[in-house]
Amino acid sequence: MEDYHTRTKHSYASIRNNPNYLDWEKQPPVFKNYDDFISMIKLDDSLALHRLIYRIGGITAKKVYPSNAYYLRTIPSAGALYPVEFYFQCRDVEGFDDGIYHFDVKNSAVKLLHRIEAQEGVEVYFEDRRKIKGFLFLLSTIYYRSSWKYRNRAFRYCLLDAGHGLGTLEASMYLEEMACNIRYRFDKETLNKQFGFGDKEFFLSCVVAGAPKSDHAEFLDLNLADINPKIERNLLIEEAYHYSCKVQNCKTNKRFESFNYDKKRFEEVIYQRRSIREFTKQSISKASFEVILENINKAIISDCDEQVNIYYVVNRVRDMQKGLYLEEKLLKEGDFSVQAGYLCLEQALGRDSAVTFFLTTNALQYQCAYQKAGHIGQRLYLSCEYLHIGCSGIGAYYDDEVLAFLDCSEEKVLYALAIGT
Ligand SMILES: Cc1cc2nc3c(=O)[nH]c(=O)nc-3n(C[C@H](O)[C@H](O)[C@H](O)COP(=O)(O)O)c2cc1C
Repeated sequence: MEDYHTRTKHSYASIRNNPNYLDWEKQPPVFKNYDDFISMIKLDDSLALHRLIYRIGGITAKKVYPSNAYYLRTIPSAGALYPVEFYFQCRDVEGFDDGIYHFDVKNSAVKLLHRIEAQEGVEVYFEDRRKIKGFLFLLSTIYYRSSWKYRNRAFRYCLLDAGHGLGTLEASMYLEEMACNIRYRFDKETLNKQFGFGDKEFFLSCVVAGAPKSDHAEFLDLNLADINPKIERNLLIEEAYHYSCKVQNCKTNKRFESFNYDKKRFEEVIYQRRSIREFTKQSISKASFEVILENINKAIISDCDEQVNIYYVVNRVRDMQKGLYLEEKLLKEGDFSVQAGYLCLEQALGRDSAVTFFLTTNALQYQCAYQKAGHIGQRLYLSCEYLHIGCSGIGAYYDDEVLAFLDCSEEKVLYALAIGT
């Protein structure tokens, strides 16, 4: 993955030498729509399990421009391109036939694509093949929705967006008192084939929301048709996906740490979350910032829990020294706001924030580390929104200059985020 990551770094020169011209005619649709399905259930917000699904990625705002309109969702997405799709399998869940469903975001509905027989299930592609009673969510990415605009770097954004999806699943499940159990170790390549994805759409992760039964799934006979529109292929991204798909030698984390939000308010926060576009440069309190740090650092249950380092530049937090910190330790003291803005590809967000974060890793499991960074990003968004503090993800930064500033040249920069008011 060194190769993919190195080849997709931004630098001062690369931005100026390779300007990105967009061909709007080529923009692919941002919604996937199955015409061929067994049944469709419109999500009804009076039902808890329907709300659980809606909160994961449903539409929460509409922007209308003279030439077009687009929809914003519970999850943020680089460029509002939403490459992530959500599927789930249900077994023994009241109100749902046992089977495999697609979350049809455009129609606020779920579509049953395939009924499963008693011994059938996607669990057959997991290390532990025990059948899950409950939900098994699967997150995929249609990479061309993002590579159409962001070219080779798009795979990074797809992984971050999927990580945000894991974060909304976690938040949505928290409201139903369910623990979010993330799985990366499953046979994604075979599942891609069973779902008819071709090389256009790829599974990235799974969330188990249920309990294992004593018997195993024995087969899956799905073989869905490929309904994705034709894409302009990006071989660097396809190679990066396949190369990083097999997940091995990882540390599992089984420790569960819950949040301490007022649930009624937190549900509103999930629907209200938006990215801040501009800061007014006011300071935030140290107490608020400490709560935010506590929330983003809570343990994540996962079968491949890679280390993600959280560096942050404090620009405007009352009663805190300005400077660069790592895990609450002050590494360098000083006002680095201008530098932080420059590092985020000269975006004012990085400069005018109360705090600008840089998430890094030297982990080997690229897909897991990147999605974890996105997951932490979603926790940051929601924790900030809860405290009436703004937040924005920043996928564009000068990679090597960030590493030099942080003094960690062996690592990879996964994500930047800015928070403030
Ligand atoms: C991975 C990622 C990278 C992003 N990068 C930037 C960025 O570099 N600059 C920026 O202004 N916004 C950035 N955003 C914010 C998106 O533009 C925003 O999420 C999208 O327009 C949808 O709006 P919403 O978050 O308000 O729903 C990013 C968001 C994500 C998830």
